[in-house]
Amino acid sequence: MKTWMTIWLGVFWMTIGLPLGLAQDAQPGSSGVGDIYYPDLGNGGYDVQHYTLNLMIDVETNFLAGTAKLEAVATQDLSAFNLDFLNLKIATVLVDGQTAPYVHEGRELTIQPLEPLATDQAFEVIVKYYGFPQPTSPESIPFEMGWNHFGTGIYAANEPSGAATWYPVNDHPTDKATYTFNLSVPEGYVAVANGVLEQTIPNGERVTYVWEARDPMASYLSTVHVDRFLLDETRTEDGLTLRNYYPERYLQQGIVAFRRQAEMIAFFETVFGEYPFEVYGAVVVNSSFGFALETQTISMFGREVLFGMGGDAEWIIAHELAHQWFGNYVSPAQWRDIWLNEGFATYAEWLWYEYNYGSEELENLVAEEYENASNPFWVPGRIAEPSRSDLFNAGVYNRGALTLHALRLEVGDAVFFDILPTWLQRYADSVATTADFIALSNELSNRDLTGFFDGWLYEDALPPIEQLGLGSTN
Ligand code: ARG
Ligand code: ZN
Repeated sequence: MKTWMTIWLGVFWMTIGLPLGLAQDAQPGSSGVGDIYYPDLGNGGYDVQHYTLNLMIDVETNFLAGTAKLEAVATQDLSAFNLDFLNLKIATVLVDGQTAPYVHEGRELTIQPLEPLATDQAFEVIVKYYGFPQPTSPESIPFEMGWNHFGTGIYAANEPSGAATWYPVNDHPTDKATYTFNLSVPEGYVAVANGVLEQTIPNGERVTYVWEARDPMASYLSTVHVDRFLLDETRTEDGLTLRNYYPERYLQQGIVAFRRQAEMIAFFETVFGEYPFEVYGAVVVNSSFGFALETQTISMFGREVLFGMGGDAEWIIAHELAHQWFGNYVSPAQWRDIWLNEGFATYAEWLWYEYNYGSEELENLVAEEYENASNPFWVPGRIAEPSRSDLFNAGVYNRGALTLHALRLEVGDAVFFDILPTWLQRYADSVATTADFIALSNELSNRDLTGFFDGWLYEDALPPIEQLGLGSTN
């Protein structure tokens, strides 16, 4: 039977495939998409359009049984291709319904379709897998990222490369896709993911939560949460749904901490343009993990956000919200460009501060932050070439925001507040680089700002405080 199939395929290939010029020179896709800092992230040769992730989750033991379906298009003639996938056991791999041979080594899952795939050909990959997902320690950050099982529940915090801990993925922002999540959890638990909750399907002792994320999304922004959450759902004046999930005992604290979210959206819309996605909200994890993440349409926060954070909770809530525009709608083309996320989200906090307290208070804040940035122990220089083992260092946040404030003073408010929304429109649902941002700033200001940006982004020494409109006497 097998031999017969092989012969038949061979005959088909020589008589029909070859004359049509289909995939004659098919080559394996590359095992990295070309990230300069992290060359093994993502893969070459195809473009994923949609992920359907069917996950059966046992919260107490952290057992996961998954079926991931990827709808993709080949961007070259492919004899084989890779997905990023860590640790979990694979039961089967199918390409267009046919069992396909594969090799799983480290982060790379290499799949060989029975027939080569031709450029522009749409194809479907199904991977069935199971196991106990564990977080990973990326080279870029001293944190355990990806799937995390904690006391009472589960969260997934992927940035930058943890998505591969729970599903097979082209794990790089350059390949955005839409997602369907079918999350089956034991009755009594709530399962949260990106996008809109379409259905809740009871099934005996279990419940399936169906989430649709219809806006293109980078894999590092995908998320899943399982716990005994309570939902607080409201609408903004513009009709945008806000759904916030809190651990059941913290509903009141959550409502208080997040009370200004709708107001923040309204303010950011006046500066950046319309909120870019179909829905927003937050999920508070019942664990104090010490950071927050701008997971698309549903930012996630550690429990500490509810207890004041020394009065800083409002700033981090504004920060993650601003990432929906800067980072999520327009994402970095290279991880090296991370200041395009963090510098902009931090400057958005400062704009919110200015909106609330006025420009004099902003000036004081800028002076204080310049002081912080001057301390080489606190903030290393060259933020457009950050350390690849400390990607999220304080400099990309703080000096990144100072760079934008200096740009605002350099080109004036009218041009600066044209650059921000134009940037978002031009690279909407896509990725961009630092060079793209400099080019846009040059274009809209009608100037050559290369020297200006060199000082702020590519030199160790901090530019003089006068560039922030502050005299040394200040
Ligand atoms: N993008 C996050 C923020 O808004 C970064 C948090 C750093 N940790 C991480 N695992 N990526 O600040
Ligand atoms: Zn951030």
